[in-house]
Amino acid sequence: MARLILRGGRPLFGQVAASGSKNSAEAILCAAALADEECVIEGVPLEASVLAIIMLLRGLGALVYWDAGGRVHVNGSSINSYRAPLYWAKKERGSFYAAGLLLAKLGKVRTPMPGGCNIGARPVDFHLDGFRKLGARVVVENKMVLAEARKLTGARIYVGRSSVGATINLMLAASMAEGQTVLENAAKEPEIVDTATFMNKMGACIEGAGTNVIRITGVPRLKGTYHQVIPDRIEAGTFLTVAAIAGGDVLVTNTKAAHLAQPVEKLREAGFQLEIDSDSIRIKGERRPLPCMICTARYPGFATDLQSPFTSLMALADGRSVIRETIFPDRWMWIDELRRMGAEVELIEDTAVIKGVPKLHGAEVTATDLRAGAALVAAALGAKGETIINNAEVLNRGYEGLTSKLAALGAGIVRYEVDEPLADEMKWELEKVVSPDMEINMGMDMGLTAGVNMGANVDGMVSEEPGAADAAADPEG
Ligand code: EPZ
Repeated sequence: MARLILRGGRPLFGQVAASGSKNSAEAILCAAALADEECVIEGVPLEASVLAIIMLLRGLGALVYWDAGGRVHVNGSSINSYRAPLYWAKKERGSFYAAGLLLAKLGKVRTPMPGGCNIGARPVDFHLDGFRKLGARVVVENKMVLAEARKLTGARIYVGRSSVGATINLMLAASMAEGQTVLENAAKEPEIVDTATFMNKMGACIEGAGTNVIRITGVPRLKGTYHQVIPDRIEAGTFLTVAAIAGGDVLVTNTKAAHLAQPVEKLREAGFQLEIDSDSIRIKGERRPLPCMICTARYPGFATDLQSPFTSLMALADGRSVIRETIFPDRWMWIDELRRMGAEVELIEDTAVIKGVPKLHGAEVTATDLRAGAALVAAALGAKGETIINNAEVLNRGYEGLTSKLAALGAGIVRYEVDEPLADEMKWELEKVVSPDMEINMGMDMGLTAGVNMGANVDGMVSEEPGAADAAADPEG
């Protein structure tokens, strides 16, 4: 377990760059493997969730490596297995993109229900309904999804709840289907646009990404290309919130303000001064926030992934705030942790009513999921005294080098007792991987750094024996 120790009360000053978008990168890496040629992707953040996707693709037989310049090379021509390696396929929500990828590429997939953050139920029915509409036979047995199609054929599909993941998975599956697929009620998130832009560079024919109707005309094959992943809007929004809470003067670079319109508006409503440039946002955090009413919504609405950090901010507001979570109604499991720091929050179903207090105080708390972890970091940096955050390794999943980035701004933050790889340590490991010849070493090094289980599964993953890896990795069978 990793632990963070934070000392609040130090204002933050300086410049911090957001990394590439995690959620875009996960989708783009899987899309890249659709081609039988090499794709080169820049701006892939070095995060545990992204590394899990890379390991998943390798387990399928793809050649994937990180070059010395920080670009990820993906060549899907060697994909030879329709069975997703269990350990990696169960790890992340994005792992389920293996389904769209393999259905399109091999016409068959066997993959487990995906993992991801602990934020309530996260079914995949919209994904599966879409695959069925494209002509696949889909069976779910013992938490395993088996889907098969002799041929995928374009169809008109209504995407339930404008699901981000289902929209991406269906773009992957339909990219080489026969005829046209129309996704109605599609998600409009910037990560969808980024993935579609990338796929079009690969030769796909995807129109309307960024609107709620996406038209995909199947093409016979996709080719290799180069792409730069968009900046991570959630990471940038997190830094803005942290700076608002801790105080000081922080410039967040490598960010697209257009992707952060709602959080920026809410920060202004809370009384903060922001200077917006084409690729940066500067915030001066020198006052107690004013209370706000926030309701999470589909893009371009207020992002659910910023709900937790904003809850920490509103915990300090001068008055009563109301935050309603409409995307993941159970995304409040972490709130007792914030209460331990002195926050006064009443939960009424999916809504938090927050009576702001002038100051939070340090406490020992646990990060229950990625964004909750970020919210606790934000709260701790504005609190009086010392905070210990347990289970801090969840932050590895979506923040590249968070500890060092915050420390560089002057935050009192130290990380210790680590038995999972730190982002920076992973970087060090990966910097050794500069050529495809060395790629096996990367897997082994990562496995060893990450602990015995991970190593065992890396071995299992490359096993040719069907079922051997699965049996080793899945005690539930
Ligand atoms: C993506 O999750 C992101 N993850 C999430 O980021 C993000 O919070 C979410 O989109 C919303 O923006 C990745 O991109 C890897 P959905 P996803 O499908 O695709 C329900 C983070 O912290 N639903 O749009 O899983 C679902 O339960 C993470 O970075 C079904 O009922 O989100 C939810 O209530 C967390 N059936 C709603 O739809 C389905 O088949 C929206 O989920 C699919 C979804």
